[in-house]
Amino acid sequence: MSKPRNSSCDAHTPDSGAPDSGTPDSGAPDPAPALPDAAALAGLTQRLDRPVVLVGLMGVGKSTVGRRLSQCLGTPFVDADDEVVKAAQMSIPEIFDRFGEDYFRDGERRVIARLIEDNAGRPAVIATGGGAFADEETRALILDRAIAIWLDAELDTLVSRVSRKNTRPLLTGKDPRKVLGELMERRNPAYAQAPIRVTSDTGPQSNGVARIIAALEDYLA
Ligand code: S3P
Repeated sequence: MSKPRNSSCDAHTPDSGAPDSGTPDSGAPDPAPALPDAAALAGLTQRLDRPVVLVGLMGVGKSTVGRRLSQCLGTPFVDADDEVVKAAQMSIPEIFDRFGEDYFRDGERRVIARLIEDNAGRPAVIATGGGAFADEETRALILDRAIAIWLDAELDTLVSRVSRKNTRPLLTGKDPRKVLGELMERRNPAYAQAPIRVTSDTGPQSNGVARIIAALEDYLA
């Protein structure tokens, strides 16, 4: 039985801002579908026999949108980056600094395998770090045991969002537009293997959530 829908799922609840920010993005977003009512959301959750895993580049809003999606669906939410930090008892910049990216990737792979196992066969929302789905083993596991959703955005949107946080080692001291552009080229073929792709634009987070919910409805129909 899923938990009751949290009021922060309401379509008219003001957003706390775009992902990574305290203020909403500017620009004219495309209209998003309306959120279904509580009964329809509960019905959708009941049909979810696997966790939903959000994948996509840094700054696209996987954690923010994922948390809110879980509130709408009444499911647990878990952020893989937070779990890596907990397991290592170190921040992500510290892990990269002291042990390097390969060590981080090993930990990330193990943590995601555990999260998929812990949530096997039940509805849950898992947000992953941007590199997770680019790892062949992790991607295969997610594709096999979960519903992967690629949250995608324009380069301009990503650049503007990542500038609000300086905790991403791959961007430290670098030109975010250049790095994100290169990562897009390299990782998009991997992200494109997700069965669902949803675009995150400059509008409120609730747009992304409503689009994911509509895409899940279609996917499970
Ligand atoms: C990374 C993305 C980060 C984090 C780490 C590496 C990447 O997560 O896992 O800094 O390789 O793209 P977010 O996508 O949540 O920023």
